[in-house]
Amino acid sequence: MSEPVQTPQTFPTRIFSGIQPSGGLTLGNYLGALKRFVQKQDEGIETVYCLVDMHAITVWQDPARLRQQTREAAAGFIAAGIDPKRSILFNQSQVTAHAELAWIFNCVARMGWMSRMTQWKDKTAGKNAETESLGLFAYPSLMAADILAYKATHVPVGEDQKQHLELCRDIAMKFNHDYKINFFPITEPVIEGAATRVMSLRDGTKKMSKSDPSDQSRINLTDDADTIAKKFRKAKTDPEPLPDTIDGLKDRPDARNLVNIYAALADMAPEAVITQYAGAQFGTFKPALADLAVAKLSPITTEMSRLMQDPAEIDRILGEGADRADAIARPIVDQVYDIVGMIRSRHV
Ligand code: TYM
Repeated sequence: MSEPVQTPQTFPTRIFSGIQPSGGLTLGNYLGALKRFVQKQDEGIETVYCLVDMHAITVWQDPARLRQQTREAAAGFIAAGIDPKRSILFNQSQVTAHAELAWIFNCVARMGWMSRMTQWKDKTAGKNAETESLGLFAYPSLMAADILAYKATHVPVGEDQKQHLELCRDIAMKFNHDYKINFFPITEPVIEGAATRVMSLRDGTKKMSKSDPSDQSRINLTDDADTIAKKFRKAKTDPEPLPDTIDGLKDRPDARNLVNIYAALADMAPEAVITQYAGAQFGTFKPALADLAVAKLSPITTEMSRLMQDPAEIDRILGEGADRADAIARPIVDQVYDIVGMIRSRHV
């Protein structure tokens, strides 16, 4: 790849991130993304958060469920502390700049770059890739468009999105290089904290995911207090007590996952959790974790279901967010058309 022609420092700090409304939000989404989105907003940084419904349809979505899940995700964001006045909160399809820029990026990105994406490889492993949607293959190009339509400088995500963000940087560099202009920032991924990769409660070597067939493997933000407590009590562990140093968790993925979840929920370092529970049996640690999770998550769950009683209000918030998002993205994408040489002469 060519050298970057600029540094992100030349662009004002703006945060962008997105979540797919393709299923309920999980504890992984909450700790790896949502909780950190709220922190960034509360630090007073300009924050743009998007429910990426166009990414969701890269695999089949029932239309009525997609609409419901998009509203539910919006309710989850607000219940978790996203203030739609301070942050911009909207669904992707309402701002056409995303799809428009994605097309241009489809012509900048190379087939080889897309074929090397591990998520594409994982999703097609053991299957016939020929039957997957073209959208699934081009997914990272739309993701780069999401980010760069706002010239976002920082993107908070979980560990699993790292490679997609590297591709976003590659697209920005190639665009800047090909058109000889310092137009797009080279966006920084922000992957930090104890829970950048929350693992399945049934298998500490697998990511907690909304698409896992076992509901026991994950905590959903819609789970009630009893269900949350039960899932943590039944979480897979080994027979050893907790070690007295963090190194002692090295080959114990299930135990390490529970310690990391505790740390992220309590805003502690994993080392501090180990100091507090050194030598404790899981019979002691799991109920403490369950209590902590219920204390932190049930207010969110309750507020989410309250918000879901008024879907029209959620749609209104998303519409207002989309207007504000469009006001930023439209002029940027119009400039891109100009840079690549498109005639823009309509009288509107
Ligand atoms: P998605 O919808 O799979 O996940 C949304 C966010 O949650 C994080 N996450 C996790 N973090 C820790 N542990 C887990 N088990 C876990 N599961 C999910 C993800 O890393 C992500 O931050 N491609 C993206 C959506 C997207 C996007 C964007 C993100 C579209 N455009 C632009 C950032 C910027 C995705 O599928 O996330």
